Amino acid sequence: MPDLSSMFRLDGRVALVAGAASGIGLASAEGLAASGALVVCADINGPGAEKAADGIRSRGGQADSFALDVTDAAAVDQAFRDVEKRHGRIHAVVTTPAVNIRKRLLDYTSADFDKVVRLNLAGGFHVLQAAGRHMLAKKGGSIVLFSSMRAVTVEPGQSIYAATKAGLIQMVRGLAVELGPAGVRVNCIAPGVVETPLTAPIKDKPEWYQAYSNRNALNRWAKAEEMAGPVVFLASDASSYVTGAVLFADGGWTAIDGRFAPPV
Ligand SMILES: NC(=O)c1ccc[n+]([C@@H]2O[C@H](COP(=O)([O-])OP(=O)(O)OC[C@H]3O[C@@H](n4cnc5c(N)ncnc54)[C@H](O)[C@@H]3O)[C@@H](O)[C@H]2O)c1
Repeated sequence: MPDLSSMFRLDGRVALVAGAASGIGLASAEGLAASGALVVCADINGPGAEKAADGIRSRGGQADSFALDVTDAAAVDQAFRDVEKRHGRIHAVVTTPAVNIRKRLLDYTSADFDKVVRLNLAGGFHVLQAAGRHMLAKKGGSIVLFSSMRAVTVEPGQSIYAATKAGLIQMVRGLAVELGPAGVRVNCIAPGVVETPLTAPIKDKPEWYQAYSNRNALNRWAKAEEMAGPVVFLASDASSYVTGAVLFADGGWTAIDGRFAPPV
């Protein structure tokens, strides 16, 4: 049973965040550190990961960092072994790296398809495997992947990205079922629209940016920091009975049916 007064705290725990150099990964690393975890910041952008760890340390938190390409299965395995050697155990793993090539399906090239699937789906798979093996051996832990509301609702140009985001959910559910008996929890967060470098090109187009604000129940975009709460929740004992779940942190995007508000 979680201690209700400290169930969101992560003191004495180690969290690894892949994608920690930017956007939601950076906010996740900062949120986990502020909740007491020692955070290992990993990213293909090594200097960016180190900058994230520096920022955490400058605020009195604990962090270290290394460069990691999640598309490289052997490198991901090695990273988990290295972090285990350095810190003993990894209690929580969060992974965010993804790419979106916005093109109509009929225009997608095989190279486009491979690029999106390789990072979004295979990258997630590699982290699930390495984290799952580590946590199975340690008999516990929490893994959090980033899906998207695009897993359930699409628009022109999003088919392949959406397919990877839906695929991640089924992988997460499968692993949650397989590792549940060992006390390992596996969940997804599905954001709506979040202001990060990934979505910066949309912000540059006022009509597009505003349309996305109007499309969700809160009538605005999320800040990256607003994803830190869901991450800390899923990483901590506050979610001790939550596994195989998809937490929609989408401002109500998927709750709204259509673009018309009836006059009631
Ligand atoms: N921003 C949004 O509106 C939004 C909405 C729904 C879902 N999401 C999902 O949230 C996640 C994070 O998105 P974001 O907006 O923070 O993206 P971002 O582009 O700001 O950050 C992605 C990070 O991943 C790193 N990265 C890229 N390739 C990598 C690799 N091969 N190995 C390791 N690191 C790599 C990048 O260097 C970067 O630091 C993604 O999975 C995205 O699909 C974002």
